[in-house]
Amino acid sequence: MLGRSQHLLSRDGTFRPENLGPKVLAMIGNLCFSLFVFGVLLFTIIAATYKPEDPLFHPSAKINSFLTSDTNATFKSDTTVVKTGEDFMAPNQTAFATFLNMTDVDNAVPEAIGEMEASEVANCTGNPDEPIDCTDPEVFHLLMKAAIEKFKDIHFYRFGKAVRGNYDHSCHMAWRFRPIEGKTAAFYKDYRNFEVARSENCTLSVVRIGGYHSGGNARKKKKHQKGGIEKMIKAQEPANALPVVGEAVNDSLPVVESEGSFSRGKYLLYTPGGDRCKNMNHYLWSFMCALGEAQYLNRTLVMDLNICLSKIYTSSGVDEEGKDFRYYFDFEHLKDSASVLDKGQFWDDWKKWHKKDGLSLHLVEGFKTTPMKLVGVKDTLIMRKFGSVEPDNYWYRVCEGETESVVQRPWHLIWKSRRLMDIVSAISSRLNWDYDSVHIERGEKASNKKLWPNLDADTSPEALLSTLQDKLEDGRNLYIATNEPDTSFFDPLKDKYATHFLDDYKDLWNETSEWYEETMKLNNGNPVEFDGYMRVSVDTEVFLRAKKQIETFNDLTKDCKDGINTCTASS
Ligand SMILES: *[C@@H]1O[C@H](CO)[C@@H](O)[C@H](O)[C@H]1NC(C)=O
Ligand SMILES: *[C@@H]1O[C@H](CO)[C@@H](O)[C@H](O)[C@H]1NC(C)=O
Ligand SMILES: *[C@@H]1O[C@H](CO)[C@@H](O)[C@H](O)[C@H]1NC(C)=O
Ligand SMILES: *[C@@H]1O[C@H](CO)[C@@H](O)[C@H](O)[C@H]1NC(C)=O
Ligand SMILES: *[C@@H]1O[C@H](CO)[C@@H](O)[C@H](O)[C@H]1NC(C)=O
Ligand SMILES: *[C@@H]1O[C@H](CO)[C@@H](O)[C@H](O)[C@H]1NC(C)=O
Ligand SMILES: *[C@@H]1O[C@H](CO)[C@@H](O)[C@H](O)[C@H]1NC(C)=O
Ligand SMILES: *[C@@H]1O[C@H](CO)[C@@H](O)[C@H](O)[C@H]1NC(C)=O
Repeated sequence: MLGRSQHLLSRDGTFRPENLGPKVLAMIGNLCFSLFVFGVLLFTIIAATYKPEDPLFHPSAKINSFLTSDTNATFKSDTTVVKTGEDFMAPNQTAFATFLNMTDVDNAVPEAIGEMEASEVANCTGNPDEPIDCTDPEVFHLLMKAAIEKFKDIHFYRFGKAVRGNYDHSCHMAWRFRPIEGKTAAFYKDYRNFEVARSENCTLSVVRIGGYHSGGNARKKKKHQKGGIEKMIKAQEPANALPVVGEAVNDSLPVVESEGSFSRGKYLLYTPGGDRCKNMNHYLWSFMCALGEAQYLNRTLVMDLNICLSKIYTSSGVDEEGKDFRYYFDFEHLKDSASVLDKGQFWDDWKKWHKKDGLSLHLVEGFKTTPMKLVGVKDTLIMRKFGSVEPDNYWYRVCEGETESVVQRPWHLIWKSRRLMDIVSAISSRLNWDYDSVHIERGEKASNKKLWPNLDADTSPEALLSTLQDKLEDGRNLYIATNEPDTSFFDPLKDKYATHFLDDYKDLWNETSEWYEETMKLNNGNPVEFDGYMRVSVDTEVFLRAKKQIETFNDLTKDCKDGINTCTASS
């Protein structure tokens, strides 16, 4: 929890740029620590009282279908993307109203720099080849203005100070932003290269701004920098913890510091049930139940980060073991905001100390014992042991019946992997956050004329051209999210739109990408496949960030999502 608050409320504290008088600056050092402490407190209170709506009971109309379960049935074999905590944080527009605009930048910087600007100009020799001093406030000001002018479809919330780039006329600068038409609650971080030219009369200008994440030198905030105050300008940001996509991820496994703290702990562990290798909706619905029970009992959840990916998402067509929770979800957020421990680590510690410290185990068979009956249990470990008969061995059955109203699923603890969301952000940024999108579902449904009589014809290129002409302007960037493997099928659309597909962005997960390098580290140095779940996840999230979103069902065809005669009033 500390980690996150620290970078939400960085050491410069939260202040409006217009307050940046010299006296105030001097006071900030002292204020810093108290602000920090206050920030941590505030964050704690918000985290403790914040309850996003439960997706099952408040299905949101816009985003694709979520979970379909009735109390004892299994989940449909559904390849749609799971909704997670951040999807339920309403992007309350008033909370985001205070982005930085040109006036803020103009007001803040000259005040803070004073005479420096004059001396810099006075000393300019008029030699265009002279290196650019990126730390010069005048340059900082210039870069901020250039960024605000160039990127019209995003709002800026913070600028980090500029640093030297990779050559004499290059500066790198980082910022935090949100797309203006954002329907999601996250912040994004970008850092880019700026090429700066000096003319003979000493005027500076930005000649070129590099692509997404091209300014690596500005990426990391220096830790424990002396003096602490970074020359950053910041707008007021909502106090809620929000994902920051593009910030470095630290999702190393939590460690138990000492024997004492391990042996004093109380733990809850579920043995593998029939949920293993089921689809991701099912996995999460079950995992959230276990986490909910652990929180209800004030126990640390001993979790298995090793997950089995259902065959519906694998290229091999069979269930694949050995996937890591961190490929799909934000483990850093989870470990910072809840008490969890990896199973491997737990058993190592248990073996070391259970005899010596007399640690005891309370075994429960399956779901028949409710969490309410376990409140008084004093044993170190409660282990729920699940049998082999489906569906009685599904974890989520623990949360059914009378438990439903007592144990809440803590949705706010689960966010999507920020590494995947960074790919989404890179794609959207390459399209300048100014694109429309259409989701075209074909695959098996298109070939099943019995259940979907019109889908195939309604998603043919000819039909699409005619349906889309009323909905989209000609010449727009159009992102096509689809399960049609042969994208050349959509070639006729190129006459009217600039079409883009997920596979146009393969370099974001290829062997030289950051995603590849980082996931390989999580996998003991072995490469990780960009699997079907990741693909559909990124595809859907890029779709959801488009300005206009056109869905298959309802928008393109009158067929029902789940087959003939399954349309409901709401979907
Ligand atoms: C559970 O499912 C079975 C088989 O589908 C059905 O016979 C039974 O009535 C269901 N039980 C409940 C409580 O819905
Ligand atoms: C934003 O949240 C505040 C307080 O929770 C509420 O009063 C306001 O109506 C919300 N605004 C919007 C646009 O949802
Ligand atoms: C910038 O924001 C301030 C208030 O935060 C407002 O008074 C000013 O008009 C805005 N300037 C521009 C150029 O939008
Ligand atoms: C500019 O020149 C003055 C003397 O004329 C000197 O004191 C100052 O340090 C110089 N500034 C820079 C940035 O070189
Ligand atoms: C300096 O030169 C640039 C072109 O090289 C010109 O656009 C600018 O107006 C000049 N500025 C002044 C103050 O003369
Ligand atoms: C990641 O966080 C852990 C604490 O959770 C810390 O011990 C470790 O040094 C961090 N690693 C990096 C690379 O910052
Ligand atoms: C968990 O802790 C809270 C607050 O410390 C307490 O109110 C609650 O009764 C505890 N629950 C259990 C099951 O021990
Ligand atoms: C991966 O993408 C990078 C960046 O576009 C490119 O330079 C490189 O050739 C690609 N590598 C492979 C193996 O495709």
